[in-house]
Amino acid sequence: MNLKKIAKIGSIVGGIIFVLMQFIQPNRTNPEIDQSKTMQNELNIPADISALLDRGCNDCHSNQTKWPFYSYIAPASWLVSYDVMEGRKHFNMSEWGNYKLSKKATKLSGIYQAINDRSMPMPKYIPLHPEANFTDGERGQMAAWAQKEAEKLMGGEEE
Ligand code: HEC
Repeated sequence: MNLKKIAKIGSIVGGIIFVLMQFIQPNRTNPEIDQSKTMQNELNIPADISALLDRGCNDCHSNQTKWPFYSYIAPASWLVSYDVMEGRKHFNMSEWGNYKLSKKATKLSGIYQAINDRSMPMPKYIPLHPEANFTDGERGQMAAWAQKEAEKLMGGEEE
């Protein structure tokens, strides 16, 4: 067999595999939201912080995911769905009301930490979502907010 023939067979086999992959559809559901249980409902989040959460966190940490076109094309679809399902499992702003007080405090200090060490928004998310590329100032704002809220919960202080 010559190289041309091998390349041709290779591309046919590759094409068939690609088509077959499309039949394996990952979970792309947005579970219904009980508005009384959202983090936004429970914490009185300032508008600028709320906007940052929408811009950089909602897609993976809420049940309001905007599924992009490539989340419909395997294998990207599998990766996107995996990140969203994992993200929601760890921290879901739409299900905040189900968390115990100690868990809420842990998540808020987790936000503080993740924003400071730049592990969130997930770095691989940013190139395709430039609005999630927070400035240092925005990171500072969100970190300060999360720290303050965590302290409130841990100290049981009123404000
Ligand atoms: C592309 C999806 C994605 C985006 C966008 C994203 N996260 Fe995450 N996040 C994850 C995944 C997946 C995990 C769990 C695995 C890990 O820790 O890397 C996680 C974990 C976390 C955790 C740890 C929760 C815990 O206690 O285990 C925090 C806190 C967090 N994210 C906050 C944020 C914040 C705040 C933003 C926005 C500024 C954000 N994330 C944006 C996917 C995402």
